[in-house]
Amino acid sequence: MLYIGVDLGTSSVKMLLMEADGTVIDTVTKKYGVEHPYPGWSQQAPEDWLEQSVAGIKELLSGRDASSVKGIGIGGQMHGLVMLDKDDNVIRPAILWNDGRTEKQVEYLNETIGRRKLSEYTANIAFAGFTAPKVLWVKENEPENFSRISKIMLPKDYLVYMLTGKHATDVSDASGMLLMDVKNRRWSREMCEICGVKEDWLPELHESSDAVGILLPKYQEQFGVGEVIVAAGAGDNAAAAVGTGTVGDGGCNISLGTSGTLFISSSKFRVDDFNALHSFAHADGGYHLMGCMLSAASCGSWFMDNVLHADDFAAEERGMEERLGKNTVYFLPYLMGERSPLNDVNARGAFIGMTASATRMDMLQAVFEGVSFGLRDSLEVAKKLGVQVKSSKLCGGGAKDKVWRRMLASILNIELEIPEVEEGPSMGGAMLAAVACGEYPDVKAAADRIVKIKEVVKPEPELVEAYERRYQVFSRLYPALKDTFKTMVQEEK
Ligand code: XUL
Repeated sequence: MLYIGVDLGTSSVKMLLMEADGTVIDTVTKKYGVEHPYPGWSQQAPEDWLEQSVAGIKELLSGRDASSVKGIGIGGQMHGLVMLDKDDNVIRPAILWNDGRTEKQVEYLNETIGRRKLSEYTANIAFAGFTAPKVLWVKENEPENFSRISKIMLPKDYLVYMLTGKHATDVSDASGMLLMDVKNRRWSREMCEICGVKEDWLPELHESSDAVGILLPKYQEQFGVGEVIVAAGAGDNAAAAVGTGTVGDGGCNISLGTSGTLFISSSKFRVDDFNALHSFAHADGGYHLMGCMLSAASCGSWFMDNVLHADDFAAEERGMEERLGKNTVYFLPYLMGERSPLNDVNARGAFIGMTASATRMDMLQAVFEGVSFGLRDSLEVAKKLGVQVKSSKLCGGGAKDKVWRRMLASILNIELEIPEVEEGPSMGGAMLAAVACGEYPDVKAAADRIVKIKEVVKPEPELVEAYERRYQVFSRLYPALKDTFKTMVQEEK
């Protein structure tokens, strides 16, 4: 039997074909663009996701006997708002997870409705990227579009809807809408009322490994497959956690993708009293705490593309390995504002500490360090909550970079376990599909059987010490600049 996992990302969609025992047969990646029409805005055409996913699946299966494909599972970028009218037309471009336009709506939810109530209804407070503030933004700023809404959904649920005709979502992704009662795994009536969301706009809520539909005949024909089951799927971080075997109690997964996340799995529900980490349902039937940085590996590509105009990471990094821990330059990675733990849409990127002898290598190294320090900020919150993290799985594009892995292990002072398959969300999607098709009794059984660790990167005492000193300096930079960032952004407007 074969299973397809899809990772509907921000810069591309990745498709992975997996045998039931977890052997990866092939992967295909298809790219698309992101629009930033105003500073801090981030949106995408859902139609592009569908077009590229369909093209990618065709390519993945071409020249193969596809009749043994049994299931598809999708892990998708979270929090995005897709709105459809009564005829299933997309009303406006989807507003993405890293969009910062909802400052006013977030303030209304957190201050006027109040953090305590939000946390009681949903286990979370409002962050600019979450879906509920976006619904309020459309209501206030695009009343004509708002009046046409017949369905709202998350990015991967748009794909599921188009591929199966079923308007469904899963608990891990739905947790990030701020419309779900996370503890009880059901929609929150109170939040829907506060945001003017009609309950019949919402998808049917499922566990991630539920089978929610069958691929529509037109796609069966195009892909050359039979009656393929489509699983509910998961938010990309929960899917990545499944793909790296971060299930059950006390697991940790770090994803270094466009965003950077620290994901702590738990069988029990809990809320972060500091309101910095998200408290969401996990795709394994349990829960997780998560810190999300809006710009992680994307800081590296930004610096390479927009500043250095270079595309050879290996060449730029040559020699960096010997000078880890030694740098005078600091980088604040807040290119799209920041979510965890700062919750500040006005935060901005910054290089600090250059002297006349600063080099491009100092700056690139500072970029990797700044992103790693940002993840450490979320880890520190977890520690304050009493969560012990001794090791973590690592996945995402940045996980492939050996220099960065070494640096990160010492900055976080934990062991990093590199899974054989680093394609977290697409692997997790395929595993959820295998569970949905009955190949495994549950997500844990699939992870136990499939996930293997190929390498462990250990923290190095000398680097831990050097980076501890640098982290202490890094930690003072954002607080010193916070008000200046706000003034700068107000002046931009
Ligand atoms: C998580 C988050 C990001 C996106 C990226 O809360 O916003 O990790 O899911 O795809």
